Amino acid sequence: MHTPLVLNDTILRMNIFDKVIDRKNTSSEKWDKYKGRDIIPMWVADSDFETAPEIVEALQQRVVQGVFGYSEQPTTGVQDAIQSHLKSQYGWQIDKSWIVPLPSLVSGLSLSCLMTDTEGDGVVVPQTIYPPFKYVVDNNKRQKIEVPMRLDTSSGVERWVLDLDAFEKAITPQTKLLLFCNPHNPAGTVYTKEELEKIHNICKRYDLLICSDEIHCDLVLDDNKKHIPLAMLNDDAANRSITLMAASKTFNVAGLGFGFAIIPSDTLRDKFKVLVRQRMPDINILAQTATEAAFKHGENWRLEQIEYLRENRDYLMQEINAIEGMKMYPLEATFLAWIDVSGLDLDDPEIFFEEAGVGISAGKYFGDNDFIRLNFACRRSLLEEAVGRIKKAIATL
Ligand SMILES: Cc1ncc(COP(=O)(O)O)c(C=O)c1O
Repeated sequence: MHTPLVLNDTILRMNIFDKVIDRKNTSSEKWDKYKGRDIIPMWVADSDFETAPEIVEALQQRVVQGVFGYSEQPTTGVQDAIQSHLKSQYGWQIDKSWIVPLPSLVSGLSLSCLMTDTEGDGVVVPQTIYPPFKYVVDNNKRQKIEVPMRLDTSSGVERWVLDLDAFEKAITPQTKLLLFCNPHNPAGTVYTKEELEKIHNICKRYDLLICSDEIHCDLVLDDNKKHIPLAMLNDDAANRSITLMAASKTFNVAGLGFGFAIIPSDTLRDKFKVLVRQRMPDINILAQTATEAAFKHGENWRLEQIEYLRENRDYLMQEINAIEGMKMYPLEATFLAWIDVSGLDLDDPEIFFEEAGVGISAGKYFGDNDFIRLNFACRRSLLEEAVGRIKKAIATL
């Protein structure tokens, strides 16, 4: 009797990701960008999926209470949830006092720049990278040191990784901080333990603070890859790290505005908390409710989403790589495909794809004009429609 029930449940769950949800006129940044135009939005990194029903239910219960005064920051519930999530997913045993709630992770990147004491201090940023990594350095009047990603083929699979020789060469006595991204956006790399150890060793040698943005850590698509929080490597790594995480990408709750920093060092944490108090608003209580529910009750939903995203990725990779002039690189994590379009010889890839009816993120924003980034966290039928539009447009070149 149990088997058919489980099967039915699985089928029902899969349908959640296939569901057609009209996001037009819902104040969706992703969809509003192309209001009134027939362009499928595949740019900003939020998914089109309805979040886990357990999260919706928790929010409904919280809203029904009807009182929305200040709450403890962070709530006991969210602290417990984060602590057990990190233990069960990564074997990372953290102390709850290490958690510093944030209204967004970009603000965590920005405050990390201010942890270096002096204007003009050097901050290492991978190139290519999610654009705010660069502008937080500029906005805080630090000196941006861009270190290239290089294509590593040693494992037999092409992977974009930070070029460690270039990293070490770029460091000067003024260099104080590495803004690191793992899994990497836009290349989807999940760094191995060995790679992380090498990165940490350089940071230790030159006494760099590390801000490790791990917002995509719960979106590892490859079964044989595992996310390792950099701060878990050893005591020194822990004591020079600010790790940034959130449920926002994985559970599509980014609009609620919540992330957190994990800072094991008392000294670093006290300093960071002063910056948070001076510059950040309190955390939205509903965002904390959602994060608590995601980490406590969302695991089955997350795994099913991973399965769905993996199939979307494999489908997209096969289709894109069959098009002459386009090359999608393998991605180990995230729902963001990094695609080389230099072979198409386009004047402006963003405009070309918009005119084709597909709204991508232009690679120039991440530091490489030869690429586009395509968000495939949408129902399969929409992805198929987008692929069809791309093929049709390219056939006219
Ligand atoms: C690596 C990375 N960090 C941070 C963010 C944004 O986080 P938040 O919305 O919490 O500022 C994103 C969003 O795409 C991201 O990819």
